[in-house]
Amino acid sequence: MAAAALLALLGLAAAAAARQWVATPDTVRPRVTQEQLLWVSGRALGAVDTFRVPLLAATGRGTLLAFAEARKRSAADAGAKFIACRRSVDGGATWSPTRFIADDGAAGDGLSLGAAVVAGAEVLLLYALCAHRAACGPPSTMLLRSRDDGRSWGAPRNLSDQVGTAVFAPGPGYGIQKQREPARGRLVVCGHGSLERDGVSCLLSDDGGRSWRRGGALRGIPFGAPKRPFDFTPDECQPYELPDGSLVINIRNQNFYHCRCRMVARSWDGGQSLPPEAVTFDPALVDPAVAASALVTAGLVFFSNPAHESQRVNLTLRWSFTNGTTWWGRGLQVWAGPSGYSTLAALPPEAQGDAPSLYVIYEKGRSQYTESISVAKISIFDDL
Ligand SMILES: *[C@@H]1O[C@H](CO)[C@@H](O)[C@H](O)[C@H]1NC(C)=O
Ligand SMILES: *[C@@H]1O[C@H](CO)[C@@H](O)[C@H](O)[C@H]1NC(C)=O
Ligand SMILES: *[C@@H]1O[C@H](CO)[C@@H](O)[C@H](O)[C@H]1NC(C)=O
Repeated sequence: MAAAALLALLGLAAAAAARQWVATPDTVRPRVTQEQLLWVSGRALGAVDTFRVPLLAATGRGTLLAFAEARKRSAADAGAKFIACRRSVDGGATWSPTRFIADDGAAGDGLSLGAAVVAGAEVLLLYALCAHRAACGPPSTMLLRSRDDGRSWGAPRNLSDQVGTAVFAPGPGYGIQKQREPARGRLVVCGHGSLERDGVSCLLSDDGGRSWRRGGALRGIPFGAPKRPFDFTPDECQPYELPDGSLVINIRNQNFYHCRCRMVARSWDGGQSLPPEAVTFDPALVDPAVAASALVTAGLVFFSNPAHESQRVNLTLRWSFTNGTTWWGRGLQVWAGPSGYSTLAALPPEAQGDAPSLYVIYEKGRSQYTESISVAKISIFDDL
């Protein structure tokens, strides 16, 4: 080959390499580029009193699906609810009207969200019935399935024949499909129980969501007994998979055992066990005891919560270049005011070699965090 042609080829290769976005402290500068309210509480939409517990899923076809509990008559956790759903096929710029995809009627202690799972071409949504055991029962674990990218949903399926009727409140957040060994392809949904199945546990499916079984559990201490301040009380949680195939579960530390910060569990067997000796606490992730979110994308671990030791305010996004062992700088404050539960999701880059787009859906308000549900689009790399 002529030297000039070789040089031209090398030049092309260098240009392609330069275009390839790689996460480094210089290339990661998250910034909110778009934000909108998806649901506003106050009986204006479908006479729903309060929208809470937002979930977000990015499907394999690049669609965003947002879900929330639509609490019919009051802001209380127990009570009758719908599951509200909106869909965006343009990266969060516009959203379909709200559809109610589940309805528990006039239940005294109705449904509780939940965990969305993207399993190949299907989307699954797990939720609990009677999780607060308020004059109802038995508690049941329910599954909704969509085979058309979230446009329509089948009838709810009761998983309690397979996983039992002890309370299992999934998430809130998302479940994962394992991308690496061990147990590549397995669906893992983690959640928390009540006193009888006290602590965090995971449900596992090795056949794409047809059959489910109980995996590992991290028990509360004292087990099965009412808790006091500072007892070990693992609560709402979010799993994610690290590049070595291990699972991390980021957990709400309900009674502030050891710190006012997040608890972290690990599993090296795809959620089959959650060894207590692997539990750590992350003092950098200050937390008021709330459902938070964590997500791995582009080799980074992201984390969102209201970063405050006692109040649900200061919704903050943090990121880690070190598999979640350290967090970069002070993060990005998304909203200084009242803010509660959140879920993260990512869409693959629009052009190959670009950075993915990150989304955080969260409870947001001016005087109370239950006023609305907002979704913010976050550009990870801002080269302005
Ligand atoms: C779900 O299945 C369990 C176990 O068979 C049953 O006890 C429970 O009543 C069912 N729940 C609903 C809502 O049908
Ligand atoms: C908000 O969170 C950031 C990141 O943890 C922290 O540096 C800051 O002090 C927090 N602000 C308030 C008002 O708590
Ligand atoms: C993250 O984990 C992967 C897989 O174990 C490892 O190759 C990589 O070096 C880790 N990154 C850091 C910064 O520790």
